[in-house]
Amino acid sequence: MNRFNGYHILSTDSFDKKSLLFLLDISQELKERLKSEGSLSLLKGKILATLFFEPSTRTRLSFETAMIRLGGQVITVEQGDSSSIKKGESLEDMSRVVSAYCDTIVMRHPEPYSVRKFSTNASVPVINAGDGTNQHPTQSLLDLFTIRSEKTKIDGLSIGFLGDLKNGRTVHSLIHILKKFDVTLTFISHNNLKLPETYIKNLTENGIKIKETENLEEAIKELDVLYVTRVQKERFTDESEYLKVKDKYHINNKLLTQAKKDLCILHPLPRLDEISTEVDTGPNAKYFNQAQNGLYIRMAILSLILGKYKKN
Ligand code: NCD
Repeated sequence: MNRFNGYHILSTDSFDKKSLLFLLDISQELKERLKSEGSLSLLKGKILATLFFEPSTRTRLSFETAMIRLGGQVITVEQGDSSSIKKGESLEDMSRVVSAYCDTIVMRHPEPYSVRKFSTNASVPVINAGDGTNQHPTQSLLDLFTIRSEKTKIDGLSIGFLGDLKNGRTVHSLIHILKKFDVTLTFISHNNLKLPETYIKNLTENGIKIKETENLEEAIKELDVLYVTRVQKERFTDESEYLKVKDKYHINNKLLTQAKKDLCILHPLPRLDEISTEVDTGPNAKYFNQAQNGLYIRMAILSLILGKYKKN
């Protein structure tokens, strides 16, 4: 059953395991249909509006491509800042106005919970494409899709998170999804970039086995999946604090000799120096497949929230 029809996608907290697996299955099916048919017409006549108040490459392009591949069309404001927000319009007013022009809206904004605020006046489904340090739900759905595609399962895996666990919204969203599964989570970071206590508490309450460490060399030996993140420079108010933490971890081929042969390395991208490019051509690098999977997940999300998904 399609439980997504008409709903906003604002955070990952609300998904149950059944809906998550349903979404992965639809994404897999649309991936195969797209390969065999080139494009589909499930969203013919539908319009997506994209509103980005922060930079984006993958999220925006994969949403726009997903809409076009499904036969729909896209309207956009080039940079959120070139819209009437710049003149002082509130998010709530903008939401009323944009809803009247389209069938669904994808929005990214630097303020935590701003997309939720925007959605309160929207008369069409709104998708959060990243609200500050809070969440980035569709990234996490494509991360989950990639983990299942690469490891053929989710339950039983040992998954590590590395980098900026304090500010990384993709980490925050993915954690809320993974707590629905039987996984062991290891958090590896500089002491200043640790996962906020509320997440640790929530995971423990949900019975998830967790470890926290600064020692990547030791931790990497146990892992099936390593989710690497960039230190989120734009979230630092003091540049010297950023400089203290930015170079702590580097994944290279030498380090990978310590890891399981089939370790799956993921990264939401963009990558800075945290993964050496020599890793890209090896068997562990899955981050470019991961970026590609964004297209299939977003095709599934758009067709489901618009109630237009149909089996072939
Ligand atoms: C991420 C984001 O915007 O949070 N990028 C993305 O959407 N793939 C990660 C990041 O910017 O570091």
